[in-house]
Amino acid sequence: MINSVEAAAKILLRSKYIIALTGSGISAESGIPTFRGKDGLWSKYKPEELATPYAFARNPKLVWEWYSWRMKLIKEAKPNPAHITLAKLQNMRIIKTLITQNIDDLHERAGSRDIIKLHGDIFTVRCINCIFTQKLTNPPIEIPPKCPRCGAYLRPDVVWFGESLSPEIINKAFIEAEKADAILVIGTSGVVMPAGLIPKVVKDNGGKVIEINIEETVITSYADLFLKSKAGEILPKIFEKIMEIRRSRHV
Ligand code: OAD
Repeated sequence: MINSVEAAAKILLRSKYIIALTGSGISAESGIPTFRGKDGLWSKYKPEELATPYAFARNPKLVWEWYSWRMKLIKEAKPNPAHITLAKLQNMRIIKTLITQNIDDLHERAGSRDIIKLHGDIFTVRCINCIFTQKLTNPPIEIPPKCPRCGAYLRPDVVWFGESLSPEIINKAFIEAEKADAILVIGTSGVVMPAGLIPKVVKDNGGKVIEINIEETVITSYADLFLKSKAGEILPKIFEKIMEIRRSRHV
């Protein structure tokens, strides 16, 4: 009987334009908390106090303390086998495009390139007043940090509640979704829009949806294949199976 790892490998080998969508679950095995669920960030912290433009206007120091803590956590974390496998698949051109909702840099550090980062990047700061922007390597020493050009506060270049995503970045992501005949959806609850619609676009165009998650989500109901597993455990197995099938075809 064909198992789900083999089924996933076969779908991926049959597909011509595979994309991947990741969420915070892919970084969970690196020690970075997800958002929802009992241990999620939103069970301990209130998004309206920390992740909105109003929260920042009211208390920039508090917001920056929270983002500095998260920056430190991310900096100390290492990419796990799921990030590494995705990077390998991308570098082998098996995966054409990687779209993430994550603001961490673990995909980049695993070797992925040209990532479509829907919700921004925690290590990039931008001025709330002028065009100044900068990539940081460490959390800022002075909190809240100020713009070296105009003196206004700098903020993390991430999307907060109540803010729109960059139209250019959304467009890029949906163009990729339109082109795709398969999508790997990894570690996302799928409830945040517009990211949650990306797998649906692939499905509605006749593409295959392979979901990897430790629990069912809103995407599971229409996924062609649901692998109930930790991303860091199952992705390397799928990769090995792809290599094994490829080798067997070349002998
Ligand atoms: P969520 O916290 O909503 O969902 C994380 C998903 O990862 C859940 O479905 C978990 O079951 C799954 N998961 C946890 N550990 C896993 C593992 N080891 N392997 C595979 N799956 C695992 O996080 P996101 O879907 O990323 O937005 O949330 C989307 C957006 O909501 C975030 O980008 C953030 C948040 O508010 C902004 O900040 C704009």
